[in-house]
Amino acid sequence: KAPASLLAPADLYGASRRNSAGFDLSDEQTLARINAARDVALADVVPLTVREPSGTVQDVTNPATGARLATVMMADADTTTRAIEDARPWDAPAADRSAVLRRAADLYEENFGPIFAILAKEAGKTLADAVAELREAVDFLRYYAAEGETNPGAPRGIIGAISPWNFPLAIFTGQIAAALMAGNAVIAKPAEATPIIATLGVRLMHQAGVPLAALQLLPGRGGVVGAALSADPRVRGLVFTGSTATAQTIARSMAANLAPGTPLIAETGGLNAMIVDSTALPEQAVRDIVNGAFRSAGQRCSALRCLYVQEDIAPHVIEMIRGAMDELVLGDPWDLATDVGPVIDTRARDDIAGYVAANGNRVIHRLDAPAQGTFVPPTMLRVGGIGDLDREIFGPVLHVATFRGDELDRVVAEINARGFGLTFGLHTRIDSRVQEVSDAIHVGNIYVNRNQIGAVVGSQPFGGEGLSGTGPKAGGPCYVPRFFAPDAPPAAG
Ligand code: NAD
Ligand code: ALA
Repeated sequence: KAPASLLAPADLYGASRRNSAGFDLSDEQTLARINAARDVALADVVPLTVREPSGTVQDVTNPATGARLATVMMADADTTTRAIEDARPWDAPAADRSAVLRRAADLYEENFGPIFAILAKEAGKTLADAVAELREAVDFLRYYAAEGETNPGAPRGIIGAISPWNFPLAIFTGQIAAALMAGNAVIAKPAEATPIIATLGVRLMHQAGVPLAALQLLPGRGGVVGAALSADPRVRGLVFTGSTATAQTIARSMAANLAPGTPLIAETGGLNAMIVDSTALPEQAVRDIVNGAFRSAGQRCSALRCLYVQEDIAPHVIEMIRGAMDELVLGDPWDLATDVGPVIDTRARDDIAGYVAANGNRVIHRLDAPAQGTFVPPTMLRVGGIGDLDREIFGPVLHVATFRGDELDRVVAEINARGFGLTFGLHTRIDSRVQEVSDAIHVGNIYVNRNQIGAVVGSQPFGGEGLSGTGPKAGGPCYVPRFFAPDAPPAAG
């Protein structure tokens, strides 16, 4: 049965579904509140569980400076077991759950100062990225609140929610909000690098009225907490965002230990391409290429990894990309002028730097990076095609290939053959080409004559196919229903 909102598309634009207005960084009062939060005191982090947690202690550090921000108690396997025992589905009418999630959205917006400060310090987010991230988190809360209200169903039970560090508030919140809106109990495991922003998010959701037994937070290692959640048959569903390899590990554990048919909603990595043909507007294409490849220091699953540019305009476009790269400002994420902040940790920095060094003979252009902290210089590499990329390089590295006008079908087949299917960009002014390529390419999100990052909740449901995810798309009408028990009578409310 189709979700109700598919049958009533007009409601998509109703008042209850407005996207967050965001924050005006040119407004002096807003900036004053943001700057006042810059030195927000960061408390040490402990799991938020019904019973007293136990675990081992680890430091959380600022990737831009290496400075210690806080210590975190990493939950152990016993704490995970107790959290599963104590978890209770959120037994309230759908309208009440929806009201609580909307209140949480308001609390998120009111707390923008500390949220931006933690995103900058803990995850190295630039202010522009922090604004976008908070808006997305708020949008998920409001969108799923509206979706669940119009689609009442019965909860599955306990849902494990495992999230990555690159959207440590937005994706973290979106997973939880959808599972809660369906009435489930959620046990959330944030990424190792970003437990502080996760703690603030969960505290705000609790403050809004989500019961503790319905939402527990377990900062901890993937191989401990995440592995325990995916191996305990009392868990009735897992929602995961992260690398394809981790999703495969979780799927194997679930198949061996959990009840048959327990759903895994996995949103994973991508090797995302863009095709720019010779009819494209070069200025617009270059702006979108640079944003897609280098914004967020390339640490988006949606980021552009491999650009195909038609050979007759390639020298001109590559020269323009080089010029646009030279304009990028690398540095302190808190500085409004900064375009590219650090990558998440020294391991990521060394991995990306090692990859670029191994491909030194392919470098077309490379910037300098600040010596202190985990910065990686934005880099453009020449490749023969997407087949030369043996894995997702999760950083600011753009690969560029060229193609002849009669090779478009080959290029599309090459992209499809890679097996990932997350985002794809096309720059062209040939209308029929838009339809032909869109029909042939196997990806979840296609963007035409714009960049391929920053899907908007409610307007651009986001998710991939093949090695990039299982669906349903986040921020779309099919998402909340996946957290309902199949064939169960709808809950009251
Ligand atoms: P990751 O797979 O290393 O970690 C993701 C989460 O899984 C973390 O919380 C981690 O602790 C946990 N984990 C690790 N091992 C586990 C195990 N054995 N069992 C259970 N959980 C385990 O990914 P990451 O480095 O945090 O994030 C970057 C990756 O995420 C990239 O590949 C990126 O493309 C992908 N990503 C995808 C989307 C999307 O929507 N498709 C969005 C953001 C990021
Ligand atoms: N939803 C994020 C984007 O589209 C991952 O960039």
